[in-house]
Amino acid sequence: MTQDELKRAVGVAALAHVVEDSIVGVGTGSTANHFIDALASMKGRIRGAVASSVASAARLAGHGITVLDLNDVSEMPVYVDGADEIDANLCMIKGGGGALTREKIVAAVAKKFVCIADASKLVDTLGRFPLPVEVIPMAREHVMREMVKLGGKPVLRAGFVTDNGNIVLDVAGLAIVDPPALEAAINQVAGVVTAGLFARRGADVLLLGTPQGVRTIRRP
Ligand code: A5P
Repeated sequence: MTQDELKRAVGVAALAHVVEDSIVGVGTGSTANHFIDALASMKGRIRGAVASSVASAARLAGHGITVLDLNDVSEMPVYVDGADEIDANLCMIKGGGGALTREKIVAAVAKKFVCIADASKLVDTLGRFPLPVEVIPMAREHVMREMVKLGGKPVLRAGFVTDNGNIVLDVAGLAIVDPPALEAAINQVAGVVTAGLFARRGADVLLLGTPQGVRTIRRP
């Protein structure tokens, strides 16, 4: 099976976690796109979706799925999204597509976070994938210096602006042995909007696409 077929398989498998007659939180990226396409098959059985990016909102709307503003939603049973890396505790690195802040906000409202990922995303230790950090533009150099102090090598994502009008630093070289502590430390730096570490609120369920089928892994 190709990586894209594995992504598609977990996107379809995530439908089993969608609660009928509810509002669904929807992530961003190539795996989340497969989920959106699959969700179209049950659009008559959900009340609508909240998107974590402009791109996902457009894809949902393209399928005729009602897209709601998060501020009009008080209950969301499930959020479904991909990850760039995920560990055995279901802590994740996210933000490869740059949507990390909205992803974290929508995930915070949801009761359950269902991560959908192909097997290549499961790692022993987070950090081989450079950690995305969304930053207010005027704080760029300050945050870069702070990331170096934390042991990282930050690189500005060239020519990229988030849906919120900010920049992204991709921080390489971090072996993330204590994800919740590093998430908190980065989020404390003035000028950081969001660290792409999802550890304090990690996933509750991982649907992992493998050549042998979709494995369901729950948070220990
Ligand atoms: C978007 O900002 C990211 O968090 C994505 O969810 C993550 O990068 C996974 O993307 P793919 O499914 O495209 O690998």
